[in-house]
Amino acid sequence: MSYPFQIKSFDEYQAAYKRSVDDPEGFWGDVASSFYWRKKWDKVLEWNFKEPNIKWFQGGRLNITENCLDRHLETSGNKPAIIWEPNDPEDRHRVLTYRELYNKVVQFANVLKNNGVKKGDRVCIYMGMVPELAIAVLACARLGAIHSVIFGGFSAQSIADRLQDAQAEYIVTSDGAFRGNKDVPLKSVIDDALVQCHFVKRVIVLTRTRTPVSMIKGRDVWWEDEVKFVETMGNPDCPAEEMDAEDPLFILYTSGSTGKPKGVVHTVGGYMVYTTYSFVNVFQYNPGDIHFCTADIGWITGHSYIVYAPLCAGATSLIFEGIPTWPDAGRFWKIVDKYRVNILYTAPTAIRSLMGFGLGPVQQADLSSLKVLGSVGEPINEEAWHWFDDNIGKNRCPIVDTWWQTENGGILISNLAGVTKAKPGWATLPLPGIQPVLMDENGKEIEGPNVGGNLCVKFPWPGMLRTTYGDHERMRTNYFATYDDMYFTGDGSYRDEDGNYRITGRVDDVLNVSGHRIGTAEVENAINMHAGVVESAVVGYPHEVKGQGIYAYVVYTSAHGDESLTRKDIAQTVARIIGPIAKPDKIQFVSGLPKTRSGKIMRRILRKIAEGELDNVGDISTLLDPQVVDEIKRGRLA
Ligand code: PRX
Repeated sequence: MSYPFQIKSFDEYQAAYKRSVDDPEGFWGDVASSFYWRKKWDKVLEWNFKEPNIKWFQGGRLNITENCLDRHLETSGNKPAIIWEPNDPEDRHRVLTYRELYNKVVQFANVLKNNGVKKGDRVCIYMGMVPELAIAVLACARLGAIHSVIFGGFSAQSIADRLQDAQAEYIVTSDGAFRGNKDVPLKSVIDDALVQCHFVKRVIVLTRTRTPVSMIKGRDVWWEDEVKFVETMGNPDCPAEEMDAEDPLFILYTSGSTGKPKGVVHTVGGYMVYTTYSFVNVFQYNPGDIHFCTADIGWITGHSYIVYAPLCAGATSLIFEGIPTWPDAGRFWKIVDKYRVNILYTAPTAIRSLMGFGLGPVQQADLSSLKVLGSVGEPINEEAWHWFDDNIGKNRCPIVDTWWQTENGGILISNLAGVTKAKPGWATLPLPGIQPVLMDENGKEIEGPNVGGNLCVKFPWPGMLRTTYGDHERMRTNYFATYDDMYFTGDGSYRDEDGNYRITGRVDDVLNVSGHRIGTAEVENAINMHAGVVESAVVGYPHEVKGQGIYAYVVYTSAHGDESLTRKDIAQTVARIIGPIAKPDKIQFVSGLPKTRSGKIMRRILRKIAEGELDNVGDISTLLDPQVVDEIKRGRLA
């Protein structure tokens, strides 16, 4: 397969960028033409950021799985689509060719169909990193059902919230998932979630860990039995449902600064075109390359760069079930060596944690197959960047620092490997089609070089979210109400004299812990559920490995009792309500929170204290009770 839209030089990048701004419809129409459409679109773009209303490739008819699978069969049916490395390196790995993957997707689509799933139904997928997760995702897309994958680390309560919001009547899960030396009882977590969700009609359970599970009559069925049934029917075909370009493809829940996580909705046509375009250009993917993205498919990075974009591009995508530090900290490097991986796309938090194990584990592996390295999820500090460059890329692999968000569908700002220049700690230049702007607090654009501000995008791109599920107004207020006619990212950024961007992190109340996005309000709500907690305030602080750690200030009713036990209980409450990823790293008991006279918590002060900048908390004269600040400073947890 060749990619007519692949940019090969800096001049080509500049030309593509210019055209994407001068003639966006011509530009994206050309990119979209190299995909398979049952019917071509009538209009490339219609938009306004007021409502907002964004439509790409209107009138176009397609099914994304025909682009991921069917169209590769004739020329690349025997090429590996998915390589799967199990949690335990001693277990057998699996390779699925495009033909095999196609057969399995068709088969499972028939399973879903037999269980009542139709176009437009929401299907929740809660699984570990096994090939069947990708198969379930693609089978939904084949039928036009809307998948909503939930990361395997979320709690029963988080699942129930998402199921209710999406009104998902179908669930695909497994008995359990292996992660390092743990096995996570996924089905039992689902059972707990379903106590609150009686509208769920069917749960399909894959066997993976052989953890005992209870199956509910009339509701729960085994994946393997259902597949056998389809086999007895003679494995019939499952023609792909013809979708409109603007039909929803999936919902993915993500945290914001207020309320419960929102369901970001991506649509079929634009998402397919944008993610594939970004994949082929950012990583400079060439046919035959082995692409290893270490993210979980439960996050957007896995959706876009493990499943959809690589398969649309006919690439080989590696899925790894386990964790980077088990059985030892050389696991990633051994995988690179074992499969001769060419592109390794990972997160700064993983790099920092592996740096801590020294060079021993790295030196045991042959990393000479690597051509491109990638980073995503949070700002990469220079020390981690150079360690990655020196020891993994051996100073011969370009590193792409890719900035983007769940809402974006694909990478928005990044260097293109070997084509545009890298700059350590900088995401660098926008991809063609992306028009970033920096804004000040008063809604004015900050122009020119060497400036910083709030990062917005002023023109739509095909991969952007279309709505927040069930609540379009939330999409407007979250992203389009802060600045007129702009998509506001929630991030701050600098721009240098060459037009490079360096993302500094969130400017709203969203934390980024080990690359996981967590709202402070969510954590506070969970802490406040604990009996005895009066109120709480949560802020982020710099953490050596996680990027940001979670610091909670808690007003607790009874001062007596074992403080460390109470801390454990509170952390456990958060794990139960949200999931272990949201557990506070530090919990400080305080007698009150710094509030203004109107009752607003002054987070700025709490953030400074958590960061250890005790002499730099700023003006506290407007506080209702300024003395509380001294008490909090004295009790700060180092
Ligand atoms: O703050 C930015 C940070 O991650 C946020 C988006 O998180 P999520 O929707 O979970 O998606 C993560 C993976 C696409 C952004 O608002 N972020 C992501 N990539 C980078 C980054 N910050 C700095 N540099 C990056 N490369």
